[in-house]
Amino acid sequence: MCGIVGYVGPQPALEVVVDGLARLEYRGYDSAGIAVLTDGRLATEKRAGKLANLRAALEHNPRTADGIGIGHTRWATHGAPTDTNAHPHVDNDNRVAVIHNGIIENFASLRLELEERGCKFTSETDTEVAAHLLAEELKQQDGDLAAAMRSVCRRLEGAFTLVAMFANDPELVVAARRNSPLVVGRGQGENFLASDVAAFIAHTRDAIELGQDQVVELRADSVTITDYDGRPVKVREYHVDWDASAAEKGGYEYFMLKEIVEQPQAVADTLLGRVAVDGTLTLDEMRLAPSELRDIEKIVIIACGTSYHAGLIAKYAIEHWCRVPCEVEVASEFRYRDPILNRQTLVIAISQSGESMDTLMAVRYAREQRARVLAICNVNGSTIPRESDGVLYTHAGPEVGVAATKTFLTQLVACYLVGLYLAQVRTVKFGDEINAVIEQLANMPEQVKKVLSTVDPVRELARSLGEADTVLFLGRHVGYPVALEGALKLKELAYMHAEAFAAGELKHGPIALIENGLPVVVVVPSREGRGVLHDKIVSNIQEIRARGARTIVIAEEGDETVRPFADELIEIPAVPTLLQPIVSTVPLQVFACELALAKGNDVDQPRNLAKSVTVE
Ligand code: F6R
Repeated sequence: MCGIVGYVGPQPALEVVVDGLARLEYRGYDSAGIAVLTDGRLATEKRAGKLANLRAALEHNPRTADGIGIGHTRWATHGAPTDTNAHPHVDNDNRVAVIHNGIIENFASLRLELEERGCKFTSETDTEVAAHLLAEELKQQDGDLAAAMRSVCRRLEGAFTLVAMFANDPELVVAARRNSPLVVGRGQGENFLASDVAAFIAHTRDAIELGQDQVVELRADSVTITDYDGRPVKVREYHVDWDASAAEKGGYEYFMLKEIVEQPQAVADTLLGRVAVDGTLTLDEMRLAPSELRDIEKIVIIACGTSYHAGLIAKYAIEHWCRVPCEVEVASEFRYRDPILNRQTLVIAISQSGESMDTLMAVRYAREQRARVLAICNVNGSTIPRESDGVLYTHAGPEVGVAATKTFLTQLVACYLVGLYLAQVRTVKFGDEINAVIEQLANMPEQVKKVLSTVDPVRELARSLGEADTVLFLGRHVGYPVALEGALKLKELAYMHAEAFAAGELKHGPIALIENGLPVVVVVPSREGRGVLHDKIVSNIQEIRARGARTIVIAEEGDETVRPFADELIEIPAVPTLLQPIVSTVPLQVFACELALAKGNDVDQPRNLAKSVTVE
């Protein structure tokens, strides 16, 4: 998830582009860059780190810009966040500049092909293939940038917004999109392009949303949009009535609300590019050889907070699919208990930020003990993946709200992918069994969308519980960590007492807490394959209801057996048992967020908390 800006018009292009980037910095901030035309020559400037670094470089090396410019603020996926990997990327003759948001899935084979034809690559990014392909196509298409873009896009797989400029055509910016956002801002004698309207709202509120597989030619006085075959298309024009700060949040009052809604895309992006043409899983950045993974005798997952809950869920999947013992431990406890680790131990460190000090210290300890360490992380180039043997990045994009939402769902996806990959290299599952789960995972973005479209009653319910002192959460099997996550969200956002129990433990003590009217949220496991557990939790619901609890039941749609015992029923789509947390967590996020908002709390910055906890 990166921020993209393009401009054509009479204003100083460099200023317009850099100001636009400042408004998009929430989308990615590990590097930034611009390209402009100065006296007909392509000039680029790019810097690792925040936009301030790029601004400083531009001050140091000031340049005038003719009427066009493009700019990018990056959230790294392929290649570490360095000056060289920052966008724009240019062709070998420095005539075409390209910026990109998304992942070009077939970049490896395209790169090989281009290198065979003599192209010199300077970065590790997937984006650079687009610059070289465009340069080649421009020769075929008599310098027609839009035609070249259409032709290149037909060859690309994956998700991308591409924006390009060509030194020979100094009044034109061309862009294309597939599965990645792009909007056009229409001004008077000037036009804009951006990942979202926040970038140009200071100049115009008239926007056009580009559809799937469309290409736009932007000139100061014209906007031409076609499909990849050059046929004109219908577009949606609209007027933006948000102010600039609301625009950064996509019109939502809080980033957290926006990030909850972004979950289907985040899940889809994390799955992108993981399956090779022959149907096998390929985890590019893994850096652990299959022979090393075959040696593993034990897995230990270490993480904190929400990431720890993802680890608890991973244990069920990994042990079930791979038949390797798997322990899960909070990172802050790990190294103080003298854990037994050796070269045959795989330690999986899960951390959204890649900077949590507790997890980092546990990683260092594990490596001292010669264990192999694999990081699951959302921030490319952060410390934990740098210090680990291998990494699997989640592609949730930046999460601004302090409470983890979309990154949790993508951590689950990454954990499932690791489990399936281990099953593949250790040959404990047949290829078609693994493919069946991958297909089920590929269906999850749709299922999450479905949940999001039905959560209004959850909001209403949450608002009605503003006065409650305590909420309890119960779950079994993978539903237990989901219950823990629901309770954590409520504590951190609504500042309420919330506790989660494994439903079977209730009778060993916590049932004494149940009293008249106490809200208890119960996560009911899927009936498929885990019928015994399902029936047991239905009994647990009856037990607490008999003692006066107000039961709030999250269950599969069509599960009529729970209906008579549910004071409130929240239905979720029926999905395979192990994958249920991807859908069952979503109503709990919405519940906690809405309850916190009803109490007047700031859900993006809850009290006493920080997004990245860099102290032990
Ligand atoms: C809760 C939350 C925290 C983090 C925890 C670990 O919503 O966000 O509990 O999950 O601080 O952070 P990372 O994953 O960055 O190591």
